This record gives sequence, structure tokens and C-alpha cells, in this order.
Amino acid sequence: MLPTHLPTPELFLPESGEPALRWGIVGPGWIAGEFATALHAHSAQRVVAVGSRSQERADAFAAAHGIEHAVGSVAALVAHPLVDVVYIAAPQSEHEALGLQAIAAGKHVLIEKPIATSAAEARALVEAGRAAGVLVMEAMWSRYLPQASVLRRLLADGALGEVRSVVADHGQAIPTDPSHRLNRPDLAGGALLDLGVYPMQFAFQALGAPQSIQTIGALTGTGVDAYATVVMQHRGLGQSVVTTSMVARSHTTASIAGTEASILFGAPFYNPSSFRLTSAEHFGPVVDWSDPTPLRGFAALSWQATAFARYVGEGRLESPVHAHEETVGIIGALETARVQLGAVGAVREEVAA
Ligand SMILES: NC(=O)c1ccc[n+]([C@@H]2O[C@H](COP(=O)([O-])OP(=O)(O)OC[C@H]3O[C@@H](n4cnc5c(N)ncnc54)[C@H](OP(=O)(O)O)[C@@H]3O)[C@@H](O)[C@H]2O)c1
Repeated sequence: MLPTHLPTPELFLPESGEPALRWGIVGPGWIAGEFATALHAHSAQRVVAVGSRSQERADAFAAAHGIEHAVGSVAALVAHPLVDVVYIAAPQSEHEALGLQAIAAGKHVLIEKPIATSAAEARALVEAGRAAGVLVMEAMWSRYLPQASVLRRLLADGALGEVRSVVADHGQAIPTDPSHRLNRPDLAGGALLDLGVYPMQFAFQALGAPQSIQTIGALTGTGVDAYATVVMQHRGLGQSVVTTSMVARSHTTASIAGTEASILFGAPFYNPSSFRLTSAEHFGPVVDWSDPTPLRGFAALSWQATAFARYVGEGRLESPVHAHEETVGIIGALETARVQLGAVGAVREEVAA
């Protein structure tokens, strides 16, 4: 039986008791600009400082986003006395080192996806955060969207029955220029880490960590993964297929099938979107849901920022909807897939649980 009423989304609404944190940005590139815009337009959070490897770029970013302080080094940013939390938006190759630097300065840290390039790096970050008593969170914004709270409730209530299958996909047509960061092994490029992290976290959310992982795919001329299909077995007759590509823009949908019902998210499933819940009976009923809020696209990056502030206010050291152990496991699964493809820079294999 499908539920007659879908759960009400749990929203991370601004000014619902969370502290107004003072944010410092490291890595003022493309997504950092979207993040600062979303924060200032849709949250009570404020960016007070920006740090770049160049004073000129920090100044330009600060001017574009109305940020008071601009500094020409990461060291100066993380040490800035006005900064409560550091948002790291540099390429993934730098996430571990920059995150550890911010944690050592006693700052909470929100690190862009993927939080790191290997399970060992991710573990180092979350352990350092725990030891320092600061919140460390991957900026997996999909987990903080309204639809994610509805999905969590449906899964927790057993609305799908026993979950048996996940199919999730994320492909983008990335420029083939070898200097683009996704084509560069030294910046930990490749489809799996950058794009595949979204469908991988989706599979983990529905089925937990895999028991086995098998990957097919191909490398770019620069040696990073161009595309990959990751097939995983999970406990309880669970299977998942995660596909990712940086050589083709794909449908970016995601589905979960259980013994009682299945759910299909519209594209792109990792953005504010919609879903259809379908009964497992032949020609059974369907229920449609779509995000009732006005936030679309990158404006929805603000949900995770308000969630982050709420967690800081609650004294949490990890996200309750994206636990450290799970975050490390997701990066470990991506690492395994990269090793199986022989991607340059993927050096060790994290054994799946
Ligand atoms: N949440 C999302 O939807 C989303 C979307 C896109 C990207 N991302 C993630 O955000 C991160 C940044 O992606 P992006 O596309 O915004 O990259 P980007 O435009 O290239 O910006 C990254 C910035 O990091 C700084 N940086 C620090 N060390 C660097 C290094 N060794 N090489 C190059 N730049 C370095 C640079 O600023 P300075 O030189 O001024 O210091 C650069 O502008 C990635 O981890 C990516 O996966 C997330």
C-alpha cells in the first residue's frame, strides 16, 4: 500500500534558531561564487572573509560579493579572528591539506564534494575534526534538500518495503582541454570523484555500504576516469548501479526499487527536483511529489549552510544525515572504482565493508 499522504519535508529554514555564523571562503572559483550568492540571498549566514592564493583574486571576489575582508593566503584566512567556519571550494586534490589547516586553526569546516580523494584522507579529516571539537561536513548539498528529508522518512517508515535496487546516474560533458581541472590527475580529476560522488551517496543512502564493487569504464588521454559503471552488491539481496561520465551529459535520474514500491527522481536528482512513488503492484497507484519551495538550482546550496549552522548551534561534530563513517565509506567506494579502472593517482584500494 502506498502512503496516502507523503511526509512533510523537514526544512532548514533560516532564522529558526541557528547561529548566524561568520564564514571564510578558501578557493574563490566558480562554485564558491554560487555559494556566497546563495548564502547572502537565502540564509542568515554571512561571508566575512575570502582567501585566495592571490591577493588580487581575493579582492575581486570580495568586491563581487560584498565581503569585508580579502586576504592573499590560506594561512591568513584560517587564522582570521572574525571567521567561525571555513568553506573550502578548492579542487579536491587540496581538500585534505586545506581542511586540516582550518581544523588546526580551531575552525569548523564545510568541504566541497568530494570531501577528499581517498578514504584515508577523508578519515584523517573527520578524525582531526573530532579531536579538535569542530564540525567537519562534506558539502553534499543534496542531503539537505527538502526532497532528501522526504526520502529519509519514506525509507525509515519502510514505505518501499525491503530496498533491493538502486540505479543512479550523473554525466556531464566536460571540456576536453587537458588543462581543465577535471582532466588533470594532479587535481584529482575524473568523473567518479567529481560527478559520481552524487549517485554513489544516493546508493549508500538507500542500501548502505556495498559488500562488493565491480567497475568498467575508460580513461582519458590524461589518465583520469572518463566514464564508469560501478556495479555493487549490498546486504539483503540489494544491488546498485552507479553510472557517471564526463564525456556525455546524461539524464541524471536516480531510482530506488523495493518489495512494496519504487521511487524515481526527476533530473537532475541531486538538485531540487521531483519524484514519483509507484506501487509494486501491476498497474498500481502512483503518488507524485515536487519540491514545494521556491529555491531552485544553486540557490539551494543555502539549505546545507543553514543546516551546518544549526548543527554548530547544537554542538554536533558530524552531520546527522551524512555521518562521518558513511562519508568515508562513499569516498572509499569511489576509490575502489578508480583503482579498478587504473586511474592515475588512485593508489590503494579500500576494501568494501
Ligand atoms: N556543490 C556543487 O554543486 C559543486 C559544483 C562545482 C564544483 N564543486 C566542487 O567545488 C570544488 C571547486 O570546483 P570549481 O569548479 O568551483 O573549481 P574552480 O572554479 O577551478 O575554483 C577552484 C578555486 O580553488 C583555488 N585553488 C586552490 N588551490 C588550487 C590549485 N592547486 N589549483 C587550482 N585552483 C586552486 C583557486 O582559487 P585561487 O587561485 O584564487 O586561490 C580556484 O579558483 C571542487 O571540489 C568541486 O568538486 C561543487
